[in-house]
Amino acid sequence: MTTAANTANTATATPAATANPETPETRSDPEYALEIVDLCIDVDKHGERVPAVKNLTIRVKAGESHGLVGESGSGKSLTLRAVMGLFAKGAYYRSGYIRICGHEVLGPDTPDYDPSMRGKGVSMVFQEPAVALNPIMKVGWQIVDAVREQEHLSRAEAKARAIELMTSVGITNPEDRFDAYPFELSGGMRQRVMIAAAIACKPKVLLCDEPTTALDVTIQEQILEIFRDIAKSGTALLYVTHDLAVVSQLCETLSVIYHGAIVEEGTLRRVFDDPQDDYTRQLLSSTPYLKGSMKAAKASTKQAAGNGRATAQSETARSQTAQSETAQSEAKGE
Ligand SMILES: Nc1ncnc2c1ncn2[C@@H]1O[C@H](COP(=O)(O)OP(=O)(O)OP(=O)(O)O)[C@@H](O)[C@H]1O
Ligand SMILES: [Mg+2]
Repeated sequence: MTTAANTANTATATPAATANPETPETRSDPEYALEIVDLCIDVDKHGERVPAVKNLTIRVKAGESHGLVGESGSGKSLTLRAVMGLFAKGAYYRSGYIRICGHEVLGPDTPDYDPSMRGKGVSMVFQEPAVALNPIMKVGWQIVDAVREQEHLSRAEAKARAIELMTSVGITNPEDRFDAYPFELSGGMRQRVMIAAAIACKPKVLLCDEPTTALDVTIQEQILEIFRDIAKSGTALLYVTHDLAVVSQLCETLSVIYHGAIVEEGTLRRVFDDPQDDYTRQLLSSTPYLKGSMKAAKASTKQAAGNGRATAQSETARSQTAQSETAQSEAKGE
């Protein structure tokens, strides 16, 4: 796995972040696995440093799936990357707090990002596995690396654990596929490999950056089922997408981001039934799947709940669907 471990770029051309006095906003709340509070990130644009994420607050409880929805360029990936402490050149932490299970990883007192929560505390599934996976390393060993980053296991033990993880995300014939290179797998299978690596250390918080955007709808539904199971096991999910239909199938709560700021947040039902912000209304009416009918949104919510209830049977179902995906991949000669 590529885990670009850049530390946080701290805004220096702007006033330094100063520690706020303890207030209900800045105090850690044990109810939440992930707390992003008043986060501000600046980026370089046309030779100037400009705000890109503006006083963003999102809190996610253990076992909750929270959607972060917004158009391209609204600051979704910047936010997720800040939670991992992965600031690319040209992006800078300015102020605010990020806490994982109450532990501050980024804030006025830790402006350089504390990486100690990566792995067991927080992990991320990227949009494009082809970029995140090492193309010249067999996929099984990439999962082994992720396992051994946190746990002191022998190679044989870590390999057994990697095969277990591959099975849990619906990779059929995991022993054979362990030795495959990323290019030998279908897009859906590569995404499963990345999820297996991301959950290798059983993170308390899992960040997902549009992980199903590049997949066709059938495979997307299978991957969403895996995320539902991950949340059910107690992990807090922060799921970034531009697609409200995906949110309606996976999340209980959501935040809508527009030009770097949260314009609306609440439960799925409240936001879909009674959107307060113009941009949210626009987003709801322009989502083809939901268009013109809040009933459709509710139906899909019910369907998601039904899917949640069906997770007890999901191992069997997943194995069957994965077999069909395997058959599809093999039919394509992958
Ligand atoms: N490293 C960087 N340097 C300069 N500008 C950046 C950098 N990273 C992001 N930006 C800018 O910050 C804004 C938010 O970017 P971000 O990648 O978070 O958008 P996004 O919501 O994830 O969009 P998309 O849906 O297209 O992935 C954009 O205007 C982008 O051009
Ligand atoms: Mg993005």
